Amino acid sequence: MHADRRLGVLISGRGSNLQALIDAIASGRLDASIEIVISNRKDAAGLERARAAGIESMVLSHRNFGSRDEYDRALTNALRERRVGLVCLAGFMRLVGSELIDAFPNRILNIHPSLLPAFPGLNAQKQALDHGVRLTGATVHLVTSELDGGPIVAQAAVPVLDDDTVESLSARILVEEHRIYPEAIRILQSRLWTMEGRRLRRTAAPEPRLPAGS
Ligand code: GRF
Repeated sequence: MHADRRLGVLISGRGSNLQALIDAIASGRLDASIEIVISNRKDAAGLERARAAGIESMVLSHRNFGSRDEYDRALTNALRERRVGLVCLAGFMRLVGSELIDAFPNRILNIHPSLLPAFPGLNAQKQALDHGVRLTGATVHLVTSELDGGPIVAQAAVPVLDDDTVESLSARILVEEHRIYPEAIRILQSRLWTMEGRRLRRTAAPEPRLPAGS
């Protein structure tokens, strides 16, 4: 199996993006296999989603490690032991350090609920509402040492409605998150792209796969 097909998914909570990847693989929209789900919190609901799908999961609590490097080394080892080729952060509420980034150069993805570079960091949906933008969205990007700052792989725009609350806006963005995360993985796997500075430029579209819901 090509290394790019072997995914490791890192979570901290609900795991709806993890579920979207599980579903995309099950329906044939994504040609991949999730080799391990790692949570830094033992109460993450996403762990149950992994179990239900028969995927190996583990809890690695940052509290049990003396430093960020030690923690990142443990993550790296767990991923390498399973010969993971692509690492997907899916609501993983930890900054990842150079240990992990250097072990998987241009091979770590993150999903963020805004149109980056607008509204990085926490509570991106509230930031968008408070700022009064009319459009926000979701971004999948490569992870670098800069918080929510790596090269962008896929984005989707979402309108902000006049009666939106953080909850209603978040729900609308989430639909797009679930759609573009598998798409971004396919783009990365295809290797049909080049990096020019921080711009990831597709050189051809990846092979079409089955549409959503089929
Ligand atoms: C998502 O909104 C994601 O963009 C952000 O954290 C949330 C995780 O949700 N990074 P879930 O755990 O995938 O349901």
